Amino acid sequence: MAAAGSAVGLGNIWKFPYIAGENGGAAFLIVYLICVLLFGLPLIMTEFLIGKRSGKSAYGAFQTLNGNSRWNWLSWLCMLTAFLIMGFYFVVTGWCFSYLTEALTGVFHGLSMDTLSSHFEAVVANKPRMLLFSVLPVALTAAVLWFDVNTGIERLSKILMPLLLLMMLLMAGCVLMLDGSNIGLQFFFRADFTKITPTVVMEAMGQCFFSLSIGMGALITYGAYMPKTQNVTATSIQVIVLDTLVAILAGIIIFPAVFAFGLNPEEGPQLVFVVLPAIFEQMSFPWLSSVLFFALLCIAALTSTISLMEVAVAFVCEASNGKLNRHKSVLIVSAGVIALVVLCVGIPFIFNYFDKVTADIMMPLGAMGMCLFVGWCLPKNGEKGVLHADKGIKHIAGKIYIAALRFLVPAAIILIFLNSLRIL
Ligand code: TRP
Repeated sequence: MAAAGSAVGLGNIWKFPYIAGENGGAAFLIVYLICVLLFGLPLIMTEFLIGKRSGKSAYGAFQTLNGNSRWNWLSWLCMLTAFLIMGFYFVVTGWCFSYLTEALTGVFHGLSMDTLSSHFEAVVANKPRMLLFSVLPVALTAAVLWFDVNTGIERLSKILMPLLLLMMLLMAGCVLMLDGSNIGLQFFFRADFTKITPTVVMEAMGQCFFSLSIGMGALITYGAYMPKTQNVTATSIQVIVLDTLVAILAGIIIFPAVFAFGLNPEEGPQLVFVVLPAIFEQMSFPWLSSVLFFALLCIAALTSTISLMEVAVAFVCEASNGKLNRHKSVLIVSAGVIALVVLCVGIPFIFNYFDKVTADIMMPLGAMGMCLFVGWCLPKNGEKGVLHADKGIKHIAGKIYIAALRFLVPAAIILIFLNSLRIL
């Protein structure tokens, strides 16, 4: 549940619908699903195996397994990526919290589409207020991480994840009862294969990485906390299924509503923040649905920020050789994150840059490093083998998994790189 909570986040509810909307709906969905199966599954398993086999966080895992410090650059890459993602992710989480408080006080009541668009711009431009709302989730995340994994992250995820699914099912039910919602469903489920271009494929791969939290050691850290008996393959499949389910549910909520009210699905990043409040106003229970939706968005964001910050907290604990305990690490990491959040709120260029550089370069590089590390450097079978950490991958499944790690996944990542460098 905690790993699923890490995966399910703004990537599913905020980003997935708008990217799908811009890339032909159903066509994007199909390519995305193929990416999740081909690349998502082996990479999630790899991170879990590294963590479970070593019992260490992203800091010590590579050195422990390899016996030398040749792969330590990967640890530092993970840590740096975690910080940069946190810098902008907490700001978007801040937008969600800001919208939740506004939904609660009924600010959106009676606003037109145009006013809602300028409202979004005004919210983002009010820097002192934005700063306050971005620091709030940092404090909430730090409060959860203050406790150890069982009492903090795990207990919270076990409550929040089912609640999230329940709330989304409820919203989907409401939206599907709207007149004209079937056009939106057709847009999302009837594929037009002419829409599948290389760009769509690349976007889908990038989204798959971000949405499943792969490539910066978050799942290594969670893997280290796994009990010995836990089946890595089954857990990975569960995470993927839940993550994909939430993304599809988000699409089922958003597209029928967009089409039922004659709006444009290619609205871009503001889709959730501008279009949805307008849609809620026209539904039967505007206050309740907007509060419900933004509460859900905040919950999804928080279970993801917990995983991001846990990477850094575990890293600092381990890197200090136990000199810094969990509480001190949480304080140090929070201070660092707040400094980055100040930068991101203050300078929009930095916000965009952190988003781009992590998604286009750092996460693919991290994932590629992990693939090559496990695929080519570690022993696979036997007592010392990495596959020994999981009873689930045996025989043919293990062979397919290793082949994916050695060839398929690195080749796919090189494609993403070439695309983001504008070579393709
Ligand atoms: N997967 C989350 C989302 O979809 C974001 C996220 C959380 C993440 N932890 C991560 C992305 C670690 C990459 C790495 O919103």
